[in-house]
Amino acid sequence: MSDRIKSVLDQDTFSKTDLVTLLSADEELRKLVFAKAEEVKNLFVGNKVYYRGLIEFSNLCGKNCYYCGIRAGNKNAHRYEVTEQEVLDAARYAYENQFGSLVIQAGERSGVQYVKRIERLIKMIKQMSNGELGITLSLGEQSEETYRRWFEAGAHRYLLRIEVSNPDLYPKYHPNNKAHDYNERLEALYRLRKVGYQVGTGVMIGLPFQTVEDLADDLLFFQKHDIDMVGMGPYIEHENTPMYEHRHLLLPKTERFYLSLKMVAVLRILMKDINIAATTAMQAIDPVGREKAIKVGANIIMPNLTPTKYRDDYLLYEDKPCTDEDAEECKRCLEARIHMAGGEIGYGEWGDSKHFKNRTGKP
Ligand code: 5AD
Ligand code: SF4
Ligand code: FES
Repeated sequence: MSDRIKSVLDQDTFSKTDLVTLLSADEELRKLVFAKAEEVKNLFVGNKVYYRGLIEFSNLCGKNCYYCGIRAGNKNAHRYEVTEQEVLDAARYAYENQFGSLVIQAGERSGVQYVKRIERLIKMIKQMSNGELGITLSLGEQSEETYRRWFEAGAHRYLLRIEVSNPDLYPKYHPNNKAHDYNERLEALYRLRKVGYQVGTGVMIGLPFQTVEDLADDLLFFQKHDIDMVGMGPYIEHENTPMYEHRHLLLPKTERFYLSLKMVAVLRILMKDINIAATTAMQAIDPVGREKAIKVGANIIMPNLTPTKYRDDYLLYEDKPCTDEDAEECKRCLEARIHMAGGEIGYGEWGDSKHFKNRTGKP
């Protein structure tokens, strides 16, 4: 087996079977995969880690994904929306601390007023920072017109996870209706690209019913769609969701974590110049999960800037870290952690996806 892994790691292209082999590496053999990923990372994107200060703008959501703690159907969730002033304060903090970029994330909503409110916020952040803060949005499926308005207001990257790339699996995790349609989500990814965003997507890892073959297909999906950025992490159960009843099918959390880490490493080997996030969910299982992800290929991290009083309410899954800490504590904590992982923080830089530059020729 060790010879097989070594020979796959020496290849330039990878079949689904190759990816399954790498993702199935055991405790001993996965070290080979991690070492290769580290080498590829240092060669193609270097050891810089870029910050995206995270504002969890609101947990209001019109959708009902079966796995998510802030789904519309969870009547136990206490709903909030961060005020304009609080968003601007967080943005100012990011700007003054040289974070380079922000991510604005929220449940999925639509409506003229909402679209306008976001547009206004983007413009205000741009203005406050003399155009220097980069803005990534993670606000779900929207019309081309909405995507264009937000883009023209100044956002230039967008994250929309496909969640699972296999259309046959998609209905297992989502209600069967137009608001949760696989093809509609895929179309939204095309729209984002057409409008001109750097496009990010991602999946959850270790879901019930999901196999290693499905995960290999997820990686091939990212490659086929020539994605610029990926954020993915382990699925973590949440009591007040329909998915909870399938928890007996789950891998133990540590195994889910290592499967996620292998996904990050194999993705780095497969798509050498993209941006990959060390996601918060990695940290929910392993106290140094994000650092481990950075070591094996991730180069983006999202320090939480959501005002502390709201953090407990943006609970997508159990054991979410950083709910008691404020922006300053997370900043200090992360800085130390990244240095320990051998990374260097790209202060004051956007840290755009090199892949985007390579595919578009734009600076
Ligand atoms: N476990 C892990 N990730 C989750 N997300 C939602 N619910 C969960 C969960 N239970 C992720 C989804 C979504 C992102 C905002 O959070 O992938 O796109
Ligand atoms: Fe809403 Fe996103 Fe949660 Fe689905 S995953 S319920 S769209 S916040
Ligand atoms: Fe938030 Fe460590 S990053 S407490």
